[in-house]
Amino acid sequence: MKRGKFIVLEGIDGSGTTTQSTRLAEALERKGHRAHPTREPSTGLVGRFLREILASGRRVEEAPDYKTMALLFAADRADHCAIEIAPRLAEGEVVISDRYLLSSIVYQSATSAVPEEAAEFVRAVNRGALVPDLTVVVDIDPRVAKARRTARGGAPELYEVDELQGRLASLYLDAERLLSEHPIVHLRGEGSVEDVTAELLAHVERVIGLGEGSPA
Ligand SMILES: Nc1ncnc2c1ncn2[C@@H]1O[C@H](COP(=O)(O)OP(=O)(O)OP(=O)(O)O)[C@@H](O)[C@H]1O
Ligand SMILES: [Mg+2]
Repeated sequence: MKRGKFIVLEGIDGSGTTTQSTRLAEALERKGHRAHPTREPSTGLVGRFLREILASGRRVEEAPDYKTMALLFAADRADHCAIEIAPRLAEGEVVISDRYLLSSIVYQSATSAVPEEAAEFVRAVNRGALVPDLTVVVDIDPRVAKARRTARGGAPELYEVDELQGRLASLYLDAERLLSEHPIVHLRGEGSVEDVTAELLAHVERVIGLGEGSPA
């Protein structure tokens, strides 16, 4: 069985990564691939604990510090890789994760007083994590993302603070420097859902095609 492909979607809150991971999986299935959308925090036990922290209504200063959060996210990632991502890849599926390692680097450095040190700490504790075949960063004007979150409704989560979201957006623009060993592409997220999916699908099909010996 040929190993599948591991695709990651990244972006600030409201950039559309959840919408796009579902749509990408559906588009790939229509084209005859087996696709599995998943997300971080995962649905495993550590992931559930993290979601509880994110939804607790605490402010960032009241939540565990960046090192604690980085370790919890790294633990969830190890669990997610072991029980969900690796087995699906072994079955030849295209696994699409809504957030992964780049989120940890971006969010933990933006919530630390020592961003470069935080980025290095996150990279260090994730040394053993699977390397995605492609990380797609959905860059978006934080004001557009905020309007979408407001329209979606619901209580803001831990990191959904305007000033922080602006810094997260800037860090995502710098993704290649933050995570130099992972293949990364960027696309703009302001367009329609359909336009973003089409662009995303084109990038992902190139990666899938590479594995099948098709022309690049
Ligand atoms: N391209 C788009 N145009 C207009 N609305 C969109 C677009 N993409 C997503 N939305 C809407 O914006 C809202 C946020 O999208 P979504 O939940 O996919 O973002 P997200 O990046 O996963 O956010 P979070 O990080 O908070 O989970 C949803 O209500 C979704 O329907
Ligand atoms: Mg989401």
